[in-house]
Amino acid sequence: MRASPALYPAVEILHIVGFVVLVGSILALDLRLLGLGRAIAIKPMAQLLLPVSRFGFVLAIGMGFLLFSADASHVVKNPAFQAKLLLLAAALINVVIAHAGSWRHVERWGDEAPAAAKATALASLVLWLGVICAGRLIAYF
Ligand code: HEM
Repeated sequence: MRASPALYPAVEILHIVGFVVLVGSILALDLRLLGLGRAIAIKPMAQLLLPVSRFGFVLAIGMGFLLFSADASHVVKNPAFQAKLLLLAAALINVVIAHAGSWRHVERWGDEAPAAAKATALASLVLWLGVICAGRLIAYF
């Protein structure tokens, strides 16, 4: 992939589009769960943003593996890349905890998310921003 001057940048641009869509939609929903934008009902907002975040996730992961495959033997030893994968794993575990837990009762929430949903929303915010920071730092190690 590195042989083609256009392919790697094109894949990296799609990687960036993927995580902007993913993290942008997740952050908007997390901020709503933490109490911002109370005029917007939580369930319809989630019904809009969760499919969008899934699309971004699939694009970011797919393009990420292509970027990785272009220089796997070096990138795998990169401490920023290793930290990024750990944060990504933690962010995904947090998604499972949220959806297997408090989100199963979203019908009963009304305008205020319960403490458990706020806790996973705050963890989500910190972890996904952490993945972005670690991703950007890959180029410096
Ligand atoms: C889904 C969550 C992900 C997010 C939020 C994310 C975020 C980022 C960010 C912010 C960058 C820096 C972009 C730049 O400097 O222009 C980056 C680069 C990179 N990402 Fe990801 N990434 C994700 C998933 C992955 C996965 C799963 C892999 C591979 C297994 C991966 C592999 C890479 C590589 C190799 C680079 C370095 C590209 C370069 O510097 O040339 N990413 N990522």
